Amino acid sequence: MISIAVLGYGTVGSGVVEVIEKNKEVIDRRAGEEIRVKYILDLRDFPGDPYADRVVHDMNVILQDPEVSIICETMGGNEPAFTYSMQALKAGKSVCTSNKELVANHGAELIRTAKENSCNYLFEASVGGGIPIIRPLNAALTAERIELINGILNGTTNYILTRMAEEGSDFETSLKEAQEKGYAERNPEADVEGYDACRKIAILASLMTGKTARYEEIYTEGITKITREDFLYAHKMNQFIKLLASVREVDGKYYAMVAPFLIGEKNPLHSVNDVFNAIFIRGNTLGDSMYYGRGAGKLPTASAVVSDVIDCAKHGRTHIVCLWDEEKLPLCSIDGASRRFFVRAKKGCEKEAESLFGAIETVDAGLDGEFGFVTPSITEKEFAEKSAALSGFISRIRVEED
Ligand code: HSE
Repeated sequence: MISIAVLGYGTVGSGVVEVIEKNKEVIDRRAGEEIRVKYILDLRDFPGDPYADRVVHDMNVILQDPEVSIICETMGGNEPAFTYSMQALKAGKSVCTSNKELVANHGAELIRTAKENSCNYLFEASVGGGIPIIRPLNAALTAERIELINGILNGTTNYILTRMAEEGSDFETSLKEAQEKGYAERNPEADVEGYDACRKIAILASLMTGKTARYEEIYTEGITKITREDFLYAHKMNQFIKLLASVREVDGKYYAMVAPFLIGEKNPLHSVNDVFNAIFIRGNTLGDSMYYGRGAGKLPTASAVVSDVIDCAKHGRTHIVCLWDEEKLPLCSIDGASRRFFVRAKKGCEKEAESLFGAIETVDAGLDGEFGFVTPSITEKEFAEKSAALSGFISRIRVEED
């Protein structure tokens, strides 16, 4: 029998207990031994809960119990999750986590500590909720030189953008719905400002390169400035608005960013709707592949944590190699990246727009006093200069090439 402890009995932690109970037979068979939840660490008590008698308030009880070999860290945030995870790994106990903030901040150090102590630090649930993406990058795609990872990595914002596109509903109502469904972070700013997607793409960029991509250095823009009017233009152009998180290699240099993009029907990410996430990966010999599924929510995320528990159970004290060093990945400024931009501007400045940007394609969404246009491909820096000079400039959204 393998005894595990769950740190944090919130949405994901209680989901872990539920998945283990619901799929007990297959989980035990695949793990090779019975998995039982021996402890649940939380500040609160849960009277009436079937697992109320397993709740403890002191991490030392878990650390000092030699029967516990695997710990699920589903607390979220940096502390005390970091301290507890390090203590567990140093005690030779493997840790499985959904905590993207901690993985983005300290992934390399935690993996190294696991290696030094012949155990594992696994984090399948930290990116894309229930979508298998960490294990494919660490195992199935290791023969590839990865050129591009482009993903819809935040369920809350994808849910909001889908509602706005399909129902014309406003941002606030859609956000409230996402929160009620348990998709959003406690602080929705992390979702809507793109910070959550930024941490996730930092994790993927680190796995892609084997070096640590610092999320603080990734250009990040959220969806709070996207309006109903933007969707009218998008609809007119037969395009979709998605929050994309990407990292790409161009001539040995790496560019990463998170921002809303207009994408067309040829882009396979266009049909990823609601809380679903997808990660598109281009390898130099494999070509394109895509990973799709529920990117947030209690059971999908918990399922990914439990898959890591099974992997830990199967490997015992054997460390599963994960190449992610503490050396920093140099990321280039996006100023030099070229693309097309969709611009909304006040009526009357069409000529000015043309003389600044050259051959623009205009779009009429029937809105009073304004028009839209798409620029030719120019660098971010050029765009910033030219749009600052455009007297009737209202707003812009980047256009993703198909
Ligand atoms: N708030 C996150 C999301 C949860 O909406 O994707 C999963 O990481």
